[in-house]
Amino acid sequence: MIVDVQERDGTGIAFEPATELVPADERARLLIDPGFGRVFTDHMAIIEYDEQNGWHDARITARQPFTMDPASPVLHYAQEIFEGMKAYRRPNGGAALFRPDANARRFAKSAIRMAMPPLPEEMFLESVRALVSTDREWIPETEAGSLYLRPFMIANGSFLGMRSSTRFIYAVIASSVGAYFKNDSASVSLWVTREYVRAAPGGTGEAKCGGNYAGSLVAQAEAIRRGCDQVVFLDAVERRWVEELGGMNVFFVFDDGSIQTPPLDGTILHGVTRDSLLRLARDMGLTVREEPYSIDQWKADAESGRLTEAFACGTAAVVTPIGRVKEADGEFSIGGQSSGPLTLRLRSALVDIQRGSAPDPYGWIQQID
Ligand SMILES: Cc1ncc(COP(=O)(O)O)c(C=O)c1O
Repeated sequence: MIVDVQERDGTGIAFEPATELVPADERARLLIDPGFGRVFTDHMAIIEYDEQNGWHDARITARQPFTMDPASPVLHYAQEIFEGMKAYRRPNGGAALFRPDANARRFAKSAIRMAMPPLPEEMFLESVRALVSTDREWIPETEAGSLYLRPFMIANGSFLGMRSSTRFIYAVIASSVGAYFKNDSASVSLWVTREYVRAAPGGTGEAKCGGNYAGSLVAQAEAIRRGCDQVVFLDAVERRWVEELGGMNVFFVFDDGSIQTPPLDGTILHGVTRDSLLRLARDMGLTVREEPYSIDQWKADAESGRLTEAFACGTAAVVTPIGRVKEADGEFSIGGQSSGPLTLRLRSALVDIQRGSAPDPYGWIQQID
């Protein structure tokens, strides 16, 4: 059965309900401890693109495998972009998105960088809202639980030439998640890679494209081998300036109460969490710097006590304290290796808005009907 939602609410998104839903008791069992990125909902959103028709055939349909030609450009040249965002359960039982417009904008910018047709921001927002509305029962009720949304776009078609594709698939899948790190309140340890870089000036570091992540996996695996949780990347030119982690931005807190984060100069992802924390920190009256910070300075400041806290931030892991930083020739620790007071204060200010336990003076929350 195909129900045309256009008639119902003017979104232009068709609704093809899945014929086999995960039974409610099985879903409840999965939501007790979903982990991260393992439990998926019943439906997905899809919109297709070709040169003749532009974006068309928007629909919510059963989550199912794609069938694609083995010569699809995404399989060979990684013409692919994605987003990561969350829907939260509200105290009144409803659902809400956090700054989805920021993700829509970043998605369009990533598309342009990867020579893909930008999806109109309103289509992005409608597709996400429609999927959350359809699968809202999948939002866990646990304290750290949320529905992680993964919009993405891939180059479809059948040719092996080196040019942009003319056919694309945009889709959104959703995953019920708990905390990203198993021990949510403990600090993480970082491995400073000197061998690998994540992004170079003029490259794709600012775009959220799959290739950036494929290229960082070997460094992340090295971090694990070295007994660390995450890898931290330095700049590609001087191999000196701290950039970001594989999937998180980074902040430093100093003994004068100021905070600092590397500037957005083309190689770092424009994190929505980063931007939100900067706003919150400025409104708390903190001194905030977006300036380069070198790995040597980080070590010196941690050892002298000038640096009192450091934390990583992103949609998946929210705000996570950094306790220890390891290099090939030694390591240093930060503060007491646990959550510092400013890290906790910023984290609570953000999480309370996201979860609806504090007012939202910024208009960041979008309620879903
Ligand atoms: C490389 C990278 N940096 C930073 C972030 C944090 O961005 P956001 O706060 O928008 O999730 C992410 C996650 O999307 C990321 O993949």
